[in-house]
Amino acid sequence: MCGIVAYVGQQDAAPIIIKGLKRLEYRGYDSAGVALQNQAGLSVFKKKGKVAALEAELAGRDLHATIGMGHTRWATHGEPNDVNAHPHYSFHRKLAIIHNGIIENYATIKQALLKKGHSFQSETDTEVLGQFIEDIWENTPDASLEDAVRLALREVVGAYAIVVMSEADPTQLIAARKGSPLVIGVGNGEYFLASDATPIVEYTKDVIYLNDYEVAVITNDELRVTTLDNTLTTPYVHKIELELEAIEKGGYDHFMLKEIFEQPRSIADSMRGRVLADAGTIQLGGLRDYMDQLARSERIIILGCGTSWHAGLVAEYLFEELARIPVEVEYASEFRYRNPIINEGDIVIAISQSGETADTLAAIELAKSKGATIFGVCNVVGSSIARATDAGAYTHAGPEIGVASTKAFTAQVTVLTIMAIATAHRKGTITDALFRQLLVELEGIPDKVAKVLESAQKIRDIAYIFTYARNFIYLGRGMNFPVALEGALKLKEISYIHAEGYPAAEMKHGPIALIDEDMPVVVIATKDGSYEKVVSNIQEVKARKGRVIAITTEGDTNLPDMVDFTIEIPKVHDVLMPLISVVPLQLLAYDIAVMRGRNVDQPRNLAKSVTVE
Ligand code: F6R
Repeated sequence: MCGIVAYVGQQDAAPIIIKGLKRLEYRGYDSAGVALQNQAGLSVFKKKGKVAALEAELAGRDLHATIGMGHTRWATHGEPNDVNAHPHYSFHRKLAIIHNGIIENYATIKQALLKKGHSFQSETDTEVLGQFIEDIWENTPDASLEDAVRLALREVVGAYAIVVMSEADPTQLIAARKGSPLVIGVGNGEYFLASDATPIVEYTKDVIYLNDYEVAVITNDELRVTTLDNTLTTPYVHKIELELEAIEKGGYDHFMLKEIFEQPRSIADSMRGRVLADAGTIQLGGLRDYMDQLARSERIIILGCGTSWHAGLVAEYLFEELARIPVEVEYASEFRYRNPIINEGDIVIAISQSGETADTLAAIELAKSKGATIFGVCNVVGSSIARATDAGAYTHAGPEIGVASTKAFTAQVTVLTIMAIATAHRKGTITDALFRQLLVELEGIPDKVAKVLESAQKIRDIAYIFTYARNFIYLGRGMNFPVALEGALKLKEISYIHAEGYPAAEMKHGPIALIDEDMPVVVIATKDGSYEKVVSNIQEVKARKGRVIAITTEGDTNLPDMVDFTIEIPKVHDVLMPLISVVPLQLLAYDIAVMRGRNVDQPRNLAKSVTVE
C-alpha cells in the first residue's frame, strides 16, 4: 500500500526520492508525488499513475534541493487523481504532508475546520490532518511545528505514518507513526526515511524502526525522537542484513519469476540452523522457551489473510496430523470483529509475510487482550507483527517484491512444518523413526523444488493453451486442498481470470454444474492417502468433458491416459507435499498472466502490504 520516502542531507534529494519511490512500487499504488524545499520555497508536484508519469512531470524543472519527501498513494479516501495524490499543502500552505494509513475521525475534524472557514482541495483524510496540524500551530501560543504535530496526533483516531515539511524550518523533516511502518536510515550527515528498508539499503545498513506514538525530528546532522507526550527516547540502531541484489530482478523478466526460482534457496534458508537431520534435532531459537507451552496447548488458533491464511490451513493439517492438537484457522479480518473464545492453554499463531497487515495486527491485539500467548511467523524482520507477538520464528525468505506471494508461502509452510514436527516429537505423538525421516526429507525439499522448476518449459506450453480461458477450477484433497486455494488465488490476482479452489470431493455438491469442455480444471493428484479418491473426482470431471491438468507424482502411468495434461513432481512424504505441489501452480499462473500481457509484479488494485483494513 502507500509508500513513503524522504531525505535530508547534502545530496540532491529528488533523484534519491524518485529512485526510492520506484523501489516502493511493489507495495501497490495509483498516484505519486514529491515535495522539495529550496530557495524557491516548498514545492509540491504530483501525478496520477506510475512514478514514471511523475518523472515526466518533473522533467526540465529546477529540482535542486537537499531535503524533500515523496509518496506513492493507494487510494482510500477519494479516487486516484492528481489532486488526491500526496503531498498535500495545508490551508495556508505553511506545511506539506504525506501520510500512510487512515485517519478514522477525519470527518469530525474536517467539520470543525470547515466551521472555521477552511476549504479543501482534495477528498483525502491526509489533507484534513495537514490542515489540522497547521491550525493548531497557528492558534497555540509558542507552539513549534513539532508541538503542533504532537498535539494533533493526540486527537487522531486511526493509523498513520506521516512526514511533514514546512517553509518556516526548511532544514527539518518531522515524522511520526502509529500502526503504519516507518524506517529511518542513518547515514553520514544525512538521514533517509521510508516505509520499509528497500529504498534505504543502497545508502546505509544502519536503520531505526520508529515505534508507535513516536515523533522524529530530523535535520541533516540531528535526529531526535520523542513520544507523543514529549518524553525523549533513545532510538536503537539496527544493522539490516538486506543486500541490494535481493531487491533487484537479477536478469529475470519479473520479480515474481525470480522469487519462484529462488525457492530452493529460500526454503533452505528457512530451515538453516533449525533442521539438523544429522544430529536428529530441531532448533527453533525464537520459540525455545515456549516449546513446552506449545506442546501442552489444548488448541491452536491460526490467524492470517490471503496466502498467509492458506499457509495456516496447511498448518492445521500438520498440527492435527502430527501433534494431535486441534487447530482453528481464522481470517484475521473476521476474527477481529468477533468475540472469540480464547481459553487458558490456547496458543495463537499469526502468519504474515509483510508483518504489517492491518487486519492481522488488530486480530493479534484482540487475542492479546484476552490473555493469549501469541507466536508470529513473519518474513519482514522488525515488522509490526513481529514486534507485537510474544515469540516467533522468522521465515527468512528474503524480500518478496512481486505482489503475488510465492516464496513467502513456501517459507511459511516450511517454518510451520518445522514447528509441527518439533511439537509432535516433544509430545511423543510421532515416533523417533518418523521424526528422523521427516528431518531427512525436509532437508531434501530444496532439491525437489529445483527438480519441479525444470518443468518450467512444459508448464509454459500448457499455459499457452489456456491463456484465454475465462474461468478455472482448482481441486485438491487433504493437504493439497489449501494448495488448490493458493493456486486459484495466484491465477486470479495476476491474470484476472476467475478461478476457484475446492476440496475435490466438494465439487459434486455444486461446482460440478460449471464443468463443460471450456472449463480447465487443475487437479493436484499426487500419490498420497487420497490418490484413489482424487482419481474418481477426475473421472467425474472428464465424464463432463472438463479439461484436466493434473499435478502427478513422478512415475504415475495411470493419469496421463486419463487427463489432458500432466505435470510431474517428485515423491515426498504426504505432510511435506504442499511445499512441492504449489510450485507448478505458481508457474502456471505466472505464465498465463504474462501471456495475457498483465503486469504480474504490480497487478491492478492490489497492494503488497495491506496496511489498512
Ligand atoms: C496473495 C497475497 C496476499 C497476502 C495477504 C496477507 O498473493 O500476497 O493475499 O498473502 O495480503 O499479507 P501478509 O502475509 O503480508 O500478511
